[in-house]
Amino acid sequence: MVLTQTKKELDAILSSFNSTNNLGFVPTMGALHKGHIALVRKAVSENKNVVVSIFVNPTQFNNKEDLKKYPKTLESDISLLKKVSDSICVFAPSVAEIYSNSIKTNVYNFDGLDKVMEGEFRDDHFNGVGTVVETLLNLVKPDRAYFGEKDFQQLQIIKKMVDLKKIPVDIIGCPIVREPNGLAMSSRNERLSKAMRKEAALIYKILKAAKKKFGTKSANYILEWIEKQFQEHTEFDLEYVTIADVDTLTPIQKKEKNTKYRAFIAVYAENVRLIDNIALN
Ligand code: PAF
Repeated sequence: MVLTQTKKELDAILSSFNSTNNLGFVPTMGALHKGHIALVRKAVSENKNVVVSIFVNPTQFNNKEDLKKYPKTLESDISLLKKVSDSICVFAPSVAEIYSNSIKTNVYNFDGLDKVMEGEFRDDHFNGVGTVVETLLNLVKPDRAYFGEKDFQQLQIIKKMVDLKKIPVDIIGCPIVREPNGLAMSSRNERLSKAMRKEAALIYKILKAAKKKFGTKSANYILEWIEKQFQEHTEFDLEYVTIADVDTLTPIQKKEKNTKYRAFIAVYAENVRLIDNIALN
């Protein structure tokens, strides 16, 4: 395991790898859980060398309190990574190392992918994600970079950014990893009480039921049904539920043949914002 905090050292490590088409990259903000570890395992199985970045990116937080509260657990992150492979390179730069003297956010034209769902509720969030992922990809220059489908909108936006900026990398989406009761893995789950962590299984249960209904019922019927389920469970506060085209993320009007759809959900439980999604067809 090599740990570096500077671009200069990272560069030296990357040149020592000296093999082609064999570098995998997993960008993270740390506080690693089984979802991240699944990405790292996949990267390790598909690449000779793997870099994992741990960087809490200030430009993607629209809520400064959230940024302050974000858990920093470098030591335990490193010991988790060591268990996957001893030859991973961990890049954990400071904010100054990434943004120099001025923390600036690039503005991208994501073709509307950023205007729906998370984008509606988190101002400028995706420009911040685009900015840091573009910077990290240019520093690490991986052949493949791995992202979880829990943040499906983020995954599509990163694919778009890579296209726009012509960055030569394969962006690989990886399936959502769930707790045994179905709750999607997230560092935020740690902030839930034990009881709520159990109850929050309802989110995936509802998504699975929606998937079953999708074959025979209209999208509107399903959306109303989901809203009703959450009205009946007042411990949850539904922020949005959408069924959208997986490529454009445009909300469904009417089911079209040859179009793939997903249902997306954001819910508050004990003031913790949880997101999840499911492929419907
Ligand atoms: O998904 C995340 O953890 C972050 O948004 C990412 C991709 C590491 C960028 O900061």
